[in-house]
Amino acid sequence: MIDLRSDTVTRPTPEMLSIMTEAPVGDDVFGEDPTINALEERVAAMFGKQAGLFVPSGTMGNQLGLFMLTDPCDEIITDESAHIFNYEAGGCAFLSGVQLRPLPGINGILTPELIEPAIRTRNDWDPHTRVIGLENTTNRGGGACYTADNLTAIRKLARRYSLSVHLDGARIWNAMIATGIKAEFFGEVADTISVCFSKGLGAPVGSMLLADRDMIRMARRMRKVLGGGMRQAGLLAAAARYALDYHYAKLEHDHRRAAVLAREIDGMAAFDIRLDSVQTNIVIFDTLRVDASAVLGKLENAGIAMVPFGPRRIRAVFHHQITDQDLDKTIDTLGRISREN
Ligand SMILES: Cc1ncc(COP(=O)(O)O)c(C=O)c1O
Repeated sequence: MIDLRSDTVTRPTPEMLSIMTEAPVGDDVFGEDPTINALEERVAAMFGKQAGLFVPSGTMGNQLGLFMLTDPCDEIITDESAHIFNYEAGGCAFLSGVQLRPLPGINGILTPELIEPAIRTRNDWDPHTRVIGLENTTNRGGGACYTADNLTAIRKLARRYSLSVHLDGARIWNAMIATGIKAEFFGEVADTISVCFSKGLGAPVGSMLLADRDMIRMARRMRKVLGGGMRQAGLLAAAARYALDYHYAKLEHDHRRAAVLAREIDGMAAFDIRLDSVQTNIVIFDTLRVDASAVLGKLENAGIAMVPFGPRRIRAVFHHQITDQDLDKTIDTLGRISREN
């Protein structure tokens, strides 16, 4: 099966598994897992943050970050396609007692011009705007990246209104490869950052919240409340370290393959694609003549899996276990489906 449903479907490689079995471990609830401690220090230093907290999922990283930055009855500005708005089970309302204010960004990208009019006044009856929640790269937005200039302008705006910035960096590694922006810069822009090792980097499990020391101390306690305190999870941190060391540089191949697929789809009569949105490893395209389900069914018969992203929208995501041969087969199959429709 050529599995393009998501970059979360990768399986640990034999080399990664071997590193995992050799990792020194301890009880991380006691703060005694050397492999986790080293990874937290390494990634926090990369992003110029004081501390990091290894968590089981990107969702927990986001929810802990937003919990830290808000009080009940606050409001978080975000894009309408954001993961925190669409795919975290309404967790912000439940865990932090806040509401989200979704805005119509382009490819999931917000700008100061969009954000500023949505910042509320501070009357008793207003939900208080407290946080700007950014996602980089954007998932539903098709893997688009923020520019450094836009991030700087958003940061300035946030400071002017005393707002915090949370960055959902589940795929920040892809953004770093595609734009050349260094991790440290994201650390200057955002107060809290959630990064994932389990997406394109290919680790089986694991994310990290990055923030200042006091916030991470609070987040650590809250992680326990949520049942996310793990014991000898250094096995997982070792996989994350391996992914950073050996898979990070491979992301550019995922981006190249995604760009090739997008250009080919652009030339197929049965499909429509916005090429400007394809900046990293995600390809989102529309079916013009039949429903997405019909195309997905034919792909599946050919051993290719993608996911529906709307009645006539399909998403394909590249990762390090998709080869150039897989890409060629996908292009040939989509070309045949296009001619048949
Ligand atoms: C942009 C984004 N943020 C957060 C997450 C949540 O990650 P997890 O599935 O590890 O909770 C995902 C998952 O795909 C994502 O795409």
